[in-house]
Amino acid sequence: MLRAASCASLLLLLRGAVGLPWFQTVGAVLVFYFGSGGWKFTRVFCKTIGRDLHGAFTLVRVKLQVKKHLREKNTVPHIFSACVKRHPNKTALIFEGTGATWTFKELDDFSNSVANFLHAEGFRCGDVVALFMENCNEYVGLWLGMAKIGVEAALINFNLRLDALEHCFSVSNSKAVVFGKEMSQAMSDVHSMMGKSVRLFCFGETDASTIPLNTEFLAPLLQSASRLPPQDPGRGFTDKLFYIYTSGTTGLPKAAIVVHSRYFRMAALVFYGFGMRSDDVVYDCLPLYHSAGNIVGMGQCILNGLTVVIKKKFSASRFWDDCAKYNCTIVQYIGEICRYLLNQPVREVEAKHRVRMALGNGLRPAIWQEFVSRFHVPQIAEFYGATECNCSLGNFDNNVGSCGFNSRILPFVYPIRLMKVNEDTMELIRSPDGVCIPCQPGEPGQLVGRIIQTDPLRRFDGYVNESATNKKIANNVFKHGDMAYLTGDVLVMDELGYMYFRDRTGDTFRWKGENVSTTEVEGTLSRLLGQADVVVYGVEVPGTEGRAGMASVADPNHESDVEKFARDLKKALPGYAHPVFLRLLPEVNKTGTYKFQKTDMRKEGFNPHLVKDALYVLDTQQGKYIPLDEEVYDRIQSGKFKL
Ligand SMILES: *[C@@H]1O[C@H](CO)[C@@H](O)[C@H](O)[C@H]1NC(C)=O
Ligand SMILES: *[C@@H]1O[C@H](CO)[C@@H](O)[C@H](O)[C@H]1NC(C)=O
Ligand SMILES: *[C@@H]1O[C@H](CO)[C@@H](O)[C@H](O)[C@H]1NC(C)=O
Ligand SMILES: *[C@@H]1O[C@H](CO)[C@@H](O)[C@H](O)[C@H]1NC(C)=O
Ligand SMILES: *[C@@H]1O[C@H](CO)[C@@H](O)[C@H](O)[C@H]1NC(C)=O
Ligand SMILES: *[C@@H]1O[C@H](CO)[C@@H](O)[C@H](O)[C@H]1NC(C)=O
Repeated sequence: MLRAASCASLLLLLRGAVGLPWFQTVGAVLVFYFGSGGWKFTRVFCKTIGRDLHGAFTLVRVKLQVKKHLREKNTVPHIFSACVKRHPNKTALIFEGTGATWTFKELDDFSNSVANFLHAEGFRCGDVVALFMENCNEYVGLWLGMAKIGVEAALINFNLRLDALEHCFSVSNSKAVVFGKEMSQAMSDVHSMMGKSVRLFCFGETDASTIPLNTEFLAPLLQSASRLPPQDPGRGFTDKLFYIYTSGTTGLPKAAIVVHSRYFRMAALVFYGFGMRSDDVVYDCLPLYHSAGNIVGMGQCILNGLTVVIKKKFSASRFWDDCAKYNCTIVQYIGEICRYLLNQPVREVEAKHRVRMALGNGLRPAIWQEFVSRFHVPQIAEFYGATECNCSLGNFDNNVGSCGFNSRILPFVYPIRLMKVNEDTMELIRSPDGVCIPCQPGEPGQLVGRIIQTDPLRRFDGYVNESATNKKIANNVFKHGDMAYLTGDVLVMDELGYMYFRDRTGDTFRWKGENVSTTEVEGTLSRLLGQADVVVYGVEVPGTEGRAGMASVADPNHESDVEKFARDLKKALPGYAHPVFLRLLPEVNKTGTYKFQKTDMRKEGFNPHLVKDALYVLDTQQGKYIPLDEEVYDRIQSGKFKL
């Protein structure tokens, strides 16, 4: 009876969610029921119906709200105004760096002055202004103020310098750049490469001789601007809000368009899916030029009225102190952050906080349980979703190791699927009639999302660069004549529909006829080397098949014992997985999102003419690492050195 009732309510929801006719919905359930043997269906049904219902409720709820905002021509600034009205004196932002605390009213006032100032200076709806500064309260007020008059902010990664920085400015077509005083040097370096008509505004006080000529100081100008609400630019929910640059692993950053509805949808799915509450306090230590920091985290303040604590930069040693001090209940993580936290010595404060949820992506399954038990964080809210992609997944029910799920009972309700793929080339494998082949549970496949341009919830807004957009879209995927977004990520689904990450392609290489997983080797080496940062990749050696393993190890104090390491290695890994080359360097470079940067190191390889760090090569006869100098290098190149 209960089951029949939940089945009925599921069908009802689904009809709301996808507008599918009854017979098709019922038909699909029956196909699965008989196709899989009734007992299996019953088991999967019982284990997943609660999760699926919650997922469906979340989708329907967000969808209804999107519809409402579309109808009412709302925008992110409008929704923010409603928060201000509800609780003007509630704390909106706390900047940990200075302790600056802004109420919703103060954030509103500041952004109004930004809007009024820019409008008076001639900036209009559709103009782009680049924002190049470190995390702070004003950062939020600046882009929000621009959005209030329809000016679109281009959020520039504050780690970029020179050519990459200039590239970002130029592809954004910005009319002006607002940069923080800490960016003065970087700005001076690229200034001569930029167009003369671009206006420059510096935020913060600094010596005028260190910044480009003609820079105007913004803070005093804002002080004298009006704080009344600016005139509404008449933008709608599907208009552009700002640009975020994706940190592609190869090539220059690409600008991805974020429209108001996408900002809303990403933040709302997280809010309802993970069961956030209006009294939660979010600890946001991620860069605000990135979607995790500015949408998933900051969106909770702007749209849902939560208090957000902004940290200038992630700090592993201060993390739990900050959480305790500001009574944070939700923390955000990304990339390697969780591992850095686990590497810290145990301290009392790490158990004396009120954090009930860690929200982010990239928590490795290998350290998941340890993270939960050591830091007493009951819920891990792992999600999957790139800024420009509409195939979000969320681990709504705290299932260890997974980054989301798709319903097994009614998989077509959410138009994502794992499709069979050649993992070396990432090309989709097609059946004889030309469409892609969906994976069965246990089979790895590329995650793709169907594109339905008319549905605002599912729009793909693409990149500024059209040819970059086209590269991410494939035709005839689910059926003939359709289009789908290619994520480029390989995942595996289990019997219950939980999705797990596989290594990104390119993260395995072949050596001596065996497949070596870089993540696995990295994990082992890091453990042997006292949790040092380790990056493993394959390099080509003339005259050998496949790629030889190379490990770059952060060794800031020159204390790695290469001999002991070689001995330990023998016990820990099979021979083919031993790194052939070692590079000891002061620090492994990381991206702004705390992922290791491999590309440059892979390019430099083991060439002592290019690499000035200490290099070693594994001498298999002696079973130890020997220094790799120019003479040894020449012997390797000519094939005289046996690897
Ligand atoms: C907010 O604070 C101001 C000044 O402190 C006060 O005048 C106002 O009534 C407060 N508003 C609300 C809604 O509490
Ligand atoms: C955190 O909570 C405690 C106890 O409820 C309170 O005394 C303290 O003022 C709070 N701290 C902040 C920054 O809100
Ligand atoms: C992805 O985007 C396209 C086009 O904008 C949309 O039609 C499609 O349904 C989306 N897929 C998902 C899973 O959201
Ligand atoms: C657009 O993308 C294509 C392919 O990704 C690239 O070759 C081209 O240089 C890009 N154009 C600009 C203006 O960045
Ligand atoms: C290595 O991976 C390839 C596919 O990428 C597979 O065909 C091959 O059988 C694997 N080899 C081993 C030894 O596992
Ligand atoms: C790390 O980054 C610095 C600064 O950008 C650069 O000079 C250095 O070469 C990089 N190191 C490696 C190993 O790529």
